[in-house]
Amino acid sequence: MKQKLYDIPNHYPLNSSRRRAIDQHVARNAPDINRLFEQNRAWAKEIESREPGFFAALSRQQSPQYLWIGCSDSRVPANQIVGLVPGEVFVHRNVGNVAVHTDLNYMSALQYAVDVLGVRHVLVVGHYGCGGVLAALHGRRLGLIDNWLRHIQDIRIKHAALLDSLPESIQAESLCELNVIEQVLNVCRSTVVHEAWQSGQKLSVHGWVYSLSDGLIRDLHISLSDHGAMSQAYDSALAALPSLAPR
Ligand code: CO
Repeated sequence: MKQKLYDIPNHYPLNSSRRRAIDQHVARNAPDINRLFEQNRAWAKEIESREPGFFAALSRQQSPQYLWIGCSDSRVPANQIVGLVPGEVFVHRNVGNVAVHTDLNYMSALQYAVDVLGVRHVLVVGHYGCGGVLAALHGRRLGLIDNWLRHIQDIRIKHAALLDSLPESIQAESLCELNVIEQVLNVCRSTVVHEAWQSGQKLSVHGWVYSLSDGLIRDLHISLSDHGAMSQAYDSALAALPSLAPR
């Protein structure tokens, strides 16, 4: 009978024979998972050899400057894209990088990042070629997730006049950008950011789009540090969508 991974009783700290037994078990039953353990060990070893004591220091505290709100897409890994090591960016990801006022998960991440960790920047990062945005644009049915993507469809409807005036080839890129700009506003209108700004906390919210095809981030030129210039910043960001620039 195959022993399941979770049937192995935990004995900590792991001695070497116990560790070997677990390694062998995983290698036998889940070779593709075993690869991840091997890579993890190599990764930890490499970082530790470059900076001895790195993990021990990091385990005592985190003080990231940034909160990243991005898409769950496997091609958009927060840390790597902006060259940050563990401890430097607090991350919340969901399909389509949507900041929904009633999403307790996103709101909790935002509140913890702003109130407890005191991050200085919130980065809302969309990406071109986003499957969630494409599904919302074309009304594609994918299952339960259609309900989540309704938030992006609302944006599609809100900007229908603009989107319908564009060639089809540009619509998807534009909707990716519009989605980020709208989510930036959602973050700014949240109770968390509202209260942080009211109390004088230094906090900026930025809107970016990442391009899968060249690995580069486009700034959507919507960076807000207070409530004052919100609608003006929104209008000028809409007027300067990168997808609408002559090419
Ligand atoms: Co995506």
